[in-house]
Amino acid sequence: MRKTVIAGNWKMNTDRSSGAELAAAVMHGAGSANLPEHADVVLCPPFVVIPIVANAVAGSRIRIGAQNVHDQPRGAFTGEISTGMLHSVGCTHVIVGHSERRLMFAESDYDVCRKANAVVGANLQPIICVGETIAEREQGRTLEVVRRQLRAALDGIFEFSIRTCIIAYEPIWAIGTGNTATPGQAQEVHAFIRSQLREMYGSAAAEDVSVIYGGSVTETNACDLFAQPDIDGGLVGGASLDASAFTEIIRAAI
Ligand code: PGA
Repeated sequence: MRKTVIAGNWKMNTDRSSGAELAAAVMHGAGSANLPEHADVVLCPPFVVIPIVANAVAGSRIRIGAQNVHDQPRGAFTGEISTGMLHSVGCTHVIVGHSERRLMFAESDYDVCRKANAVVGANLQPIICVGETIAEREQGRTLEVVRRQLRAALDGIFEFSIRTCIIAYEPIWAIGTGNTATPGQAQEVHAFIRSQLREMYGSAAAEDVSVIYGGSVTETNACDLFAQPDIDGGLVGGASLDASAFTEIIRAAI
């Protein structure tokens, strides 16, 4: 059975005190002790805020994720963070290939693949982001782009570890814009992603992989999105910074 995953991507927001406060408010609002087994709530703060948030949620079922990682375990990579470092501060998940990394920091499909493999190799769960630009959608190239990004990212990841991967479909035109994909638009791509996983890993594995949606998820549209058969939760940016909105989104998903 695949899990429902609701991840909050805090991006470059919060600091020591506001991060701890937000984590505590989400814990309280989500009734973290009573979260069902089939659901994972993952908070993804900035690197330096991770230990504070990990401390705030210690003992609860709330998980911690990072927003990025380097693919090498150690060495002369000024400014970078390794999977081992993330592990040591309590991370269980890592977002890889977010469109902001791809577009603003020039991460290629190959970079995303190396990172995804490093994350899986370190026994952490990657949240692998894929999604098209508005121009690509208008040219009718959505599925082609998603297929290319997905297959590239998963190169080297075999059937025995695909179940630890979470795929996030994030149409770039929907991120931070308020232009959420309609449930129908999202479901079409999610079903396509699952069909690709089926071709690559077989039906049983494909059924077990969580495919989550991101791009202007709010407490008002979450229910309709999560009601779609192939949408297994959300990767939430802006609304994850508001504890009550994020709590509502968690409730809509579980
Ligand atoms: P948004 O961001 O919810 O603010 O659109 C989603 C994301 O970037 O993961």
